[in-house]
Amino acid sequence: MRYVFGNWKMNGTLAFAEEYVNKLLGEVRPASVQVALFPPFTALSSFQYLVKDSFLKFGAQNMYYEDSGAFTGEVSPVMLKEIGVDYVLIGHSERRHIFLENDEMLMKKVEAAHRHDIPVVFCVGETLEERRTGATKDVLKRQLILVQDILSTGDIVAYEPVWAIGTGVTPTMDEIRESISWVKELLKADLPVLYGGSVNKGNAVDISEVSGVDGVLVGGASLKVEEFAIIIKAFDQNI
Ligand code: PGA
Repeated sequence: MRYVFGNWKMNGTLAFAEEYVNKLLGEVRPASVQVALFPPFTALSSFQYLVKDSFLKFGAQNMYYEDSGAFTGEVSPVMLKEIGVDYVLIGHSERRHIFLENDEMLMKKVEAAHRHDIPVVFCVGETLEERRTGATKDVLKRQLILVQDILSTGDIVAYEPVWAIGTGVTPTMDEIRESISWVKELLKADLPVLYGGSVNKGNAVDISEVSGVDGVLVGGASLKVEEFAIIIKAFDQNI
């Protein structure tokens, strides 16, 4: 099984979601790829109806680690469970860098998701500075150290170098292979590891051929349904 996941970030109205999902369901019928979309919270609850009885899965881009309480602006695992999410993204680089979520907080989020049986897509990745100074392996190790024992069957890890996210720049295929194999070495369980960062219809086939890559987490290119369909087909063919 391979995975093509689309993270819409802070994009996509309800109307956009409805049109997109209908188009995608008409366009692809993947045989060996699991496809999931991560819309913003406002569109998320409509996904339980939009994707009903289809191959399409859906998840949240973030959540807080308490079940309820005085946490203005946050969404809890109980709320996500109620609408039937298949996954929750934890530790996306934008959460780490813009919203200053640290390794400890991310561990609490993983534990909270597990308490409610929500599988996580746990994201890791080095900055350009860290890559330049040769710290990539150490950084990935640090980001995984608190969760490597608790990530378990059903969870997924996404390797997303920060400098490749939204920039149009990707690592070489060798660099992707090396980092993914290091992540797999660090994990205690045998989990799928995805690559993320400027995946598009032009590089999807090459990335799908890199050994160890179990799929992709797509940002910008997942907002264009035709392009996302091409990426799904690239992974469906190269199994
Ligand atoms: P990008 O984002 O594909 O736009 O680079 C990937 C991500 O942030 O998951």
